[in-house]
Amino acid sequence: MDKITRFGVSIEKSLIGLFDAEIAKTGYRNRSEAIRDLMRDWLVGREWSRSNERAMGVITIVYDHHTRDLQEKLTEIQHGSLKAIVSTLHVHMDHDNCLEVIVLRGKTGEIQRLADALGSIRGVKHCKLLTTTTGSHIH
Ligand code: NI
Repeated sequence: MDKITRFGVSIEKSLIGLFDAEIAKTGYRNRSEAIRDLMRDWLVGREWSRSNERAMGVITIVYDHHTRDLQEKLTEIQHGSLKAIVSTLHVHMDHDNCLEVIVLRGKTGEIQRLADALGSIRGVKHCKLLTTTTGSHIH
C-alpha cells in the first residue's frame, strides 16, 4: 500500500459544512475517503483529455457579472478559440448571476484547455465540462 500524506487545505466554513453534511448521507466513513474519490474521478477526466481525439464538449459556467473584468476575460478567451466554438447561450439567472453554455467541437485536449481557462477565472462560481462523441469519427 502507498504511504499516506497529510496536507492542509484552506476552505470556507460554509463549503466544508455542506460537504460534510452531504458525505454523512453516503457510505463514506470520513471526509478523507470522499476527497480521495473526488480526486480519482477528476484524474480520470483529465486522462480523457490526453487522448486528443475529436469530440464534442459542452461547458457550462456560472458567474457573477459584477466581478471586475470577468466578462472581458470570458469573451477574450472564447474569441481565441473561434474554430472550436459551435454555439453559445447566455441566460441571466437572477440579478447578479449569469449562466453561459458553450458548445464545442474539437480535439479533446483543446476542449479541456478551454474549460480549464474559463473555470479558473476569478469570479467563476461553477464550471462543468461534459464531453460526448458518437463513438465514430467526428469531423
Ligand atoms: Ni447575464
